[in-house]
Amino acid sequence: MSDSAPLLSVRDVHAYYGLSHVLHGVDLDVREGQIVALLGRNGVGRSTLCKAIMAIVEREGSIRIKGQETSQMMPHQMARLGVGYVPEDRAIFPGLTVEQNLILGQHANAGPKSWTLDKVYSQFPSLERRRDTDADVLSGGEKQMLAMCRALMSGPDLILVDEPTEGLAPLIVEQVAELLAEITRSGVSVLLIEQKLTMAMRIADHVYVMGHGRTVFSGSPEELRIDHDTCKAWLEV
Ligand SMILES: Nc1ncnc2c1ncn2[C@@H]1O[C@H](COP(=O)(O)OP(=O)(O)O)[C@@H](O)[C@H]1O
Ligand SMILES: [Mg+2]
Repeated sequence: MSDSAPLLSVRDVHAYYGLSHVLHGVDLDVREGQIVALLGRNGVGRSTLCKAIMAIVEREGSIRIKGQETSQMMPHQMARLGVGYVPEDRAIFPGLTVEQNLILGQHANAGPKSWTLDKVYSQFPSLERRRDTDADVLSGGEKQMLAMCRALMSGPDLILVDEPTEGLAPLIVEQVAELLAEITRSGVSVLLIEQKLTMAMRIADHVYVMGHGRTVFSGSPEELRIDHDTCKAWLEV
């Protein structure tokens, strides 16, 4: 499998907010079936990389999906190519029910990998019990599950999940980790932005560390664990 084109290949990507140059040449690959963790301190540009991949910030460089160059594409085209995105704020639609939020994730050309309402509800009975409830009243953990399930209903090959465990209690963090593992078992790859290093290192197949808008480390969780210089320079607070 390592000979085939990666599902996602990011090369020398730069991104800008107006005059502010935030990404300075990011390189990163996600291969089929992998959970890849992207670590780094706050403000280094991890969320901006997700937005650059989704084409919602101004970007330069090469972003390939299954070998196809996408740097000139629009956000809806990225979704159509099979890239799902769960942003940091979870983007739940208040005023809509849990079920309406899920249905909004459905995609006209959803394929065999797409999650269905039945699959979501069998996985998360608490969402089924609250299917007719305004999604805004859910707990933080339930909102995160809902946001991830909504992304899965479009049948993506890859999802970008930005800090899913932010603000969640340890028990719920464990549920998020289990859902991420379940997602990859169902054939969907994951790019996971995380602050919780222990959890990320436990479930990731490969780890990147970002510092000041660049990739500063690429390796296995084990290689990162023994790379004290990288940990000290780029991860410890
Ligand atoms: N909408 C924005 N406009 C201008 N600057 C931004 C915006 N969003 C983020 N930034 C800046 O870009 C840098 C990277 O931010 P971000 O990608 O959110 O980092 P991370 O997700 O790693 O915490 C930070 O310096 C941040 O202040
Ligand atoms: Mg962020």
